[in-house]
Amino acid sequence: MVRGASSSVKIGASSSAKLVIICISLLGFALIADFLYASSSSSSSSYSSSLWNSQPSSHSSTLVVPLNDKKKKKKRVLADAYADLDGPDLKWEKMATAPVPRLDGAAIQIQDQLFVFAGYGTIDYVHSHVDIYNFTDNTWGGRFDMPKEMAHSHLGMVTDGRYIYIVTGQYGPQCRGPTARTFVLDTVTKQWEDLPPLPVPRYAPATQLWRGRLHVMGGSKENRHTPGIEHWSLAVKDGKPLEKEWRTEIPIPRGGPHRSCIVIDDRLYVLGGQEGDFMAKPGSPIFKCSRRMEVVYTDVYMLDDDMKWKVLPPMPKPNSHIEFAWIVVNNSIVIVGGTTEKHPETKKMVLNGEVVQFNLNTLKWSVIGKLPFRVKTTLVGFWNGWLYFTSGQRDKGPDDPSPKKVIGEVWRTKLKLNDV
Ligand SMILES: *[C@@H]1O[C@H](CO)[C@@H](O)[C@H](O)[C@H]1NC(C)=O
Ligand SMILES: *[C@@H]1O[C@H](CO)[C@@H](O)[C@H](O)[C@H]1NC(C)=O
Repeated sequence: MVRGASSSVKIGASSSAKLVIICISLLGFALIADFLYASSSSSSSSYSSSLWNSQPSSHSSTLVVPLNDKKKKKKRVLADAYADLDGPDLKWEKMATAPVPRLDGAAIQIQDQLFVFAGYGTIDYVHSHVDIYNFTDNTWGGRFDMPKEMAHSHLGMVTDGRYIYIVTGQYGPQCRGPTARTFVLDTVTKQWEDLPPLPVPRYAPATQLWRGRLHVMGGSKENRHTPGIEHWSLAVKDGKPLEKEWRTEIPIPRGGPHRSCIVIDDRLYVLGGQEGDFMAKPGSPIFKCSRRMEVVYTDVYMLDDDMKWKVLPPMPKPNSHIEFAWIVVNNSIVIVGGTTEKHPETKKMVLNGEVVQFNLNTLKWSVIGKLPFRVKTTLVGFWNGWLYFTSGQRDKGPDDPSPKKVIGEVWRTKLKLNDV
């Protein structure tokens, strides 16, 4: 089941095949370049810092350069992949703020309700309940508890329109370990049931319902950092498992957490994401988060009848932390905010402040608007022509794209899609 409405226009088979070939060759080149970049910079960027403020490490003091060079560098920097993209300004309206702020929470839209789950309130406190936003009267309400054993962040989540499937994730605050426990919520009765646990736990795996099966792939492995490429599925119907065990499926070409995973017109898409993530500091009794090398990417993959991964045109810039930041409208995928590659000089995490559209009729990407601020892991819905987002972590300000405040604000704008 998809989030929001979708139409049934098909991709032209022969032109998309050509595009795919072109893209595979481009991707091959990009991967090599990426790998070279990653191996040359890995030694200098595995520093630790607070997850909250992503301050640069003491290593950054070694980056002192003469003023002239600095200026030159800055010019080059602005033209690079992590810079903000131009796009039309949108008129945003601020709505009722959520009962609690959330980072790395999860959200599922069913009709006029946005079910908002879990998430960090602060780095040392995680939520274990659900809040509901009603798009018809634009109010929050209906709070209820999650099962005690359910993960609090980095969840895989999807709905069939009534049942919400909740797979694995991180259990507890800071950078604690994951759980493989998996649940299903009946949104009508608000009853929770167990599902067979994932074979091994994952952080923020790509999760979707496709052809009667719950698919889970990628994510980070048990250490929170190493990308997993494994892919499993479980037959489910009306909130019940039809099998006792997960089935192994074709691995995804590139692993890692925090991607959009969407089924449209019987095809499964996986967009963006990253390799690497914060890890618990070795020996820390509170599993204190420590920053590690991350590579954020633009990759778009698709599975169809062939059950072989196809490569589609890449996103306009690297984008991660978008697992619940998408909707599907009129055969286009719309993605809100996210994170891109870190700043090469300050090494700070860089947030995205664009709304981007992937038109599946033309397989073209475009920037359809700017957000009121840059934001990551935001939770998105679409109702009655309005695009909504809530929660996540926003930037320090217009001139500083690094993450700061965890928010509960709700914003909306009239969605205007690009025909191209
Ligand atoms: C949302 O609000 C409207 C207007 O108050 C109400 O009629 C509707 O039942 C609410 N939706 C749900 C699912 O409670
Ligand atoms: C989607 O398509 C319908 C029918 O053509 C149109 O009325 C609507 O405005 C479109 N929605 C958006 C957001 O463009």
